[in-house]
Amino acid sequence: MPGSSDAVLRYHDGTKHQFQQFARSLGYLDWASQPAPFRSFAGAPCFPLFPAPEAPLADYRPRAVSFEEVFEPSESPPPITAPAIGDLLRHALGLSAWKAIGRGTGRETRWSLRCNPSSGNLHPTEAYVVSGSLPGLSESPAVYHYAPDRHVLELRCAIDSRAWSEHARGRDDWLLVALTSIHWREAWKYGERAFRYCQHDLGHAMAALVASASAVGWRACLVPEWPQASLAALTGIDRDEDFVDAEREEPSCLMAIGQGDVPGAFVESHDGLTAAVRAGEWFGRASQLSEHHVQWSFIDEVAEATRDGGRECPPPSLAQFRASFGGPAAALAKAGSASARTTADARSMFLQRRSAVAFDGVSSIPRETFLSMLSAVMPHDSAPWSALWWTPRIHLALFVHRVDDVVPGLYLLPRDREAVASLRASMTRDFLWETAAPDIPLVCLARGDAQRLAARVSCDQEIAADGFFSLGMIAAFDSSLHECGPSFYRHLFWEAGFVGQILYLEAEAAGARATGIGCYYDDPVHDVLGLKDHAFQSLYHFTVGTPVEDTRLTTMPGYTWEG
Ligand SMILES: Cc1cc2nc3c(=O)[nH]c(=O)nc-3n(C[C@H](O)[C@H](O)[C@H](O)COP(=O)(O)O)c2cc1C
Repeated sequence: MPGSSDAVLRYHDGTKHQFQQFARSLGYLDWASQPAPFRSFAGAPCFPLFPAPEAPLADYRPRAVSFEEVFEPSESPPPITAPAIGDLLRHALGLSAWKAIGRGTGRETRWSLRCNPSSGNLHPTEAYVVSGSLPGLSESPAVYHYAPDRHVLELRCAIDSRAWSEHARGRDDWLLVALTSIHWREAWKYGERAFRYCQHDLGHAMAALVASASAVGWRACLVPEWPQASLAALTGIDRDEDFVDAEREEPSCLMAIGQGDVPGAFVESHDGLTAAVRAGEWFGRASQLSEHHVQWSFIDEVAEATRDGGRECPPPSLAQFRASFGGPAAALAKAGSASARTTADARSMFLQRRSAVAFDGVSSIPRETFLSMLSAVMPHDSAPWSALWWTPRIHLALFVHRVDDVVPGLYLLPRDREAVASLRASMTRDFLWETAAPDIPLVCLARGDAQRLAARVSCDQEIAADGFFSLGMIAAFDSSLHECGPSFYRHLFWEAGFVGQILYLEAEAAGARATGIGCYYDDPVHDVLGLKDHAFQSLYHFTVGTPVEDTRLTTMPGYTWEG
């Protein structure tokens, strides 16, 4: 569909930040129309989830696992139960804290944070769970909406048991999690560039789910075969009658979570499963998030141009990656990480993940820790990377500022061997291309102080200069869209968000902190790298350092029962 590709390019170029001009937005915050942070479905029965005290625990015992070992396959994965689903959601998408400013002044402002980050803390991503009947949840197989504010599942659809058995073929050892996105939540603040941020946030949420599923003892992966229209039917977001005044949700992706291999039933029977869901009994009306809206038609256009009709993906490709750089990268990651990683509890890392708002501008990290973080984002054929069905398209251009025994400068970490030649051909500046590490394909492009440059291209944000390093995520753009179609535009951002989430966790594990940076000047970044066309495009920035805490803020637990 050449028309769709044109629309993608038009949107992508049209939402670039330039030195002289930011991508179109209102230019001010219309507080009167600020979207509510949480969606609920009025009238839907609610089921509290573990670890809330009123939720049934049965005999569920969460597996204790360190962050260092969290992605190792579990030897005794638990069955799918209500408390295990609670454990999964709490540590992937649940509230990690409440923050307050002005406590005791009579003018307190509070806001919540979640395990998954979000541009502007606006959280456009909604999650739906589909499972067989489970004690502690609905008596029938069901579709639920996850409400992170209360850590409950809201019952959206009770599915006829016979229809479920026929189409899910008794595979109640797996569950499905569908993610959707409410574009308005991000567009309210960021205008036309918001579609990009919604995709980043989805990538973060996917990685958060994969990490939390791994802690539970399960594996998780994307199921690309489902057309987006079937996802809309599965989650009920195509039901006009339930969204009368409510902002619509965009179907985004489906993840299968469980043990062993993804059941063929979930891959092949989307028609049967959606028919069973359509015929089910539906509950609840979606809440309206804002009374007034601004229509950003550019977002509607790119959403339309990137709709996914589902894709044929032979089962092995769900788990198979091209071995990168002459050896299993998993082994490289471990070799690099052995001495630097903490043995901290994995779930504690998920709960303590935060974005830094400022770095101290002086501390450094050991070279070994730096390389270990980079090793952790090198793809391999097991979790977390096996969750993504495509070969890696995102490469890192690093501005190294304060890493012991690493000369400051500009570096490149290609994440796929196949991309090295085209990166080199596209980066037209006279770079050094010097090997900079023994176990990962890190190369030094140029030596020198890159602090001012890094901050400048990241919309003049000091966090890009004051940390150990910051980076741009450089996507193989044209080739990916050509190979996988316009809908893959979304996937490129998903991969960037996914890489970002792993870096966030790695930073916490190293006793540091990270921040995703969606605000950067697109073409000036390309200029730094000598990129002249759309072969590669920078899709996300990121920074890691030692945080400076804001002492005016008070922190409270995510849920009252954790106080
Ligand atoms: C896609 C994305 C883009 C972001 N862009 C920026 C940015 O440009 N500057 C910044 O200071 N923080 C940025 N952040 C951090 C968010 O503001 C932060 O995630 C949000 O406030 C929630 O806080 P938390 O990460 O501590 O949970 C970004 C986060 C994401 C996920």
